[in-house]
Amino acid sequence: MEELKFLYSRLKKYYLFIILALIGSILEGATYSGLTFILKDMIDKVFIEKDINKLKLIIILLIIVVLFRQIGLFLKGFAFPYASYRLLYELREDMFNSILNALPYEIQKRNLGDIISKLTNDLNSLKDSLYKLGVDFLSQFFVVVFMVGVLIYLDWKLFVSILIAIPLFTLSLSFFGKIRQRYSKRFQESMADYTQFISQTVQGFEILKLFNISFIKNKFKDVNKKVFKNQSKSTLFDVVYLSSVEIIAYSMVAFIIFYGGYRIIKGEITTGQFFAFLGALLLLVNSIQFVYKGLLHIKIIQPVVRRIQDILNLPQEKDEGIKFKGLKKQIVYKNVSLEIDGNKILKDINLSIKSGQKLAIVGLTGSGKSTLVKLLPALVKGYRGEIFIDEHELKEYKLSSLRRHIGMISQEVFIFNDTLRNNLLIAKPDATDEQLLQALKKAKADFVEKLENGLDTVLGEKGSRLSGGEKQRISIARIFLKNPEILIIDEGTSALDVETEEYIMDEIKNHFKDKTILMITHRLSIIDIVDKIVVIENGKIIEEGSFSELIEKKGTFYRFYTLSQNG
Ligand SMILES: Nc1ncnc2c1ncn2[C@@H]1O[C@H](COP(=O)(O)OP(=O)(O)O)[C@@H](O)[C@H]1O
Ligand SMILES: [Mg+2]
Repeated sequence: MEELKFLYSRLKKYYLFIILALIGSILEGATYSGLTFILKDMIDKVFIEKDINKLKLIIILLIIVVLFRQIGLFLKGFAFPYASYRLLYELREDMFNSILNALPYEIQKRNLGDIISKLTNDLNSLKDSLYKLGVDFLSQFFVVVFMVGVLIYLDWKLFVSILIAIPLFTLSLSFFGKIRQRYSKRFQESMADYTQFISQTVQGFEILKLFNISFIKNKFKDVNKKVFKNQSKSTLFDVVYLSSVEIIAYSMVAFIIFYGGYRIIKGEITTGQFFAFLGALLLLVNSIQFVYKGLLHIKIIQPVVRRIQDILNLPQEKDEGIKFKGLKKQIVYKNVSLEIDGNKILKDINLSIKSGQKLAIVGLTGSGKSTLVKLLPALVKGYRGEIFIDEHELKEYKLSSLRRHIGMISQEVFIFNDTLRNNLLIAKPDATDEQLLQALKKAKADFVEKLENGLDTVLGEKGSRLSGGEKQRISIARIFLKNPEILIIDEGTSALDVETEEYIMDEIKNHFKDKTILMITHRLSIIDIVDKIVVIENGKIIEEGSFSELIEKKGTFYRFYTLSQNG
């Protein structure tokens, strides 16, 4: 019910289209009545009375009725689908926005296939069900109403007698149906007993051999006989059921023919009335089936709507708080711990990074480096402790303003299936071509000079035209364009050769001279640009200091460094 209310609240602003669809459905139902009356006059006035003027009139009426029918069909066939397409258009947009604005964790923990399926399959089933309800159900409903009216008008006595007969017929049908079901079930059960008996016999074979075999044989005879008996009975009642359906259907026809024929002979109704009645009855039976099937969609549509609501109701990020305008003093991690699914990812981190400082984070894979830096742009949430950015805690800042000033280059590069220009503009929508080329140059993305259409070259699905290193350089060019206050490099140069990496690190060093940089790297050769190094092990900071301090200390960093020098 909740789900239907949701659909109603979403559809009601298209009431104009829904009213048009209703008018169309009513017109369609009405023209069916028109057709029945034309049939009646055809038989009575043309076939029996042989009135030529009536024949002409009937043709004109037929054209008018068909014309109205087309208007009705158009209205119901277009107005309602149009309203439902508008609804789907909005749902697609709202679902997309809901995903875009969801808490990052909520998307990560969900199954990608499931999200895609909700945005495609479920929306498609919604479309189908809306069609079944809004077009088929609605118009056939009016056909039912009109046909009942027509039947009553043509011969209410015949109609009432059919109405009385219907419950009798359905009752006897359900009676035979139940007997049929009971015997079919008994047959299934005796088959199950049979299989179980065989399997037990085989399992206990050796032991059975040493006991009374004829005892077992007799027992099996009983089981086997039951299978035979129930099988025969089940088939018998199948046949009885099917023929009872036929008998009932034919007795209904016989009844109508007898009673109708009797009334024609008596002069109580005309031949035309009788045939029009039969025609209307057939239409009614047909429409009732549609109405019934349409009603089923009220049930089908509910779980579909619920799945769509899952996406619409994804927990959303709040974008409110203090506007972040750039780092003035420092970032301070104060007793920061993080647990995900019971695993301690970060343990009691205490760390301060001064504005303009360049920090390197070093450690084995899985030690928690990426998680530590992802806390800053709130890509990872749910930490304990505090992270101060200048005098305010991270959570007090307006998220969008924080993210505007934080840039990240990582191993994962996202390239749209779009032009190189648009792939860069996402970092700075108002950038000029000159600025784009400048940024590409700083990122040593000289390969773009070879692209046939320059900035207009389409980079292909998932950037498939580019190598890993080329993609990484595009992501670095984006960072020069975005020009953030705080730059995070999470192994962001790992796909590059040493020479290119050094060139780019030099550019970064110059460009972000006054900015704060947090750099995670395995290449200890580029670590000379940093002021401070922290070493992480199992989510804990185990060493901290300048390059020379850590070398002197001869601890973990020293070991990493000497290993990397030798390798
Ligand atoms: N979203 C997540 N859900 C569960 N575990 C995670 C998630 N993100 C990271 N981890 C786990 O946290 C640990 C640290 O990961 P990460 O910070 O990526 O390490 P690093 O960057 O040092 O290689 C790993 O054991 C990883 O499996
Ligand atoms: Mg990592």
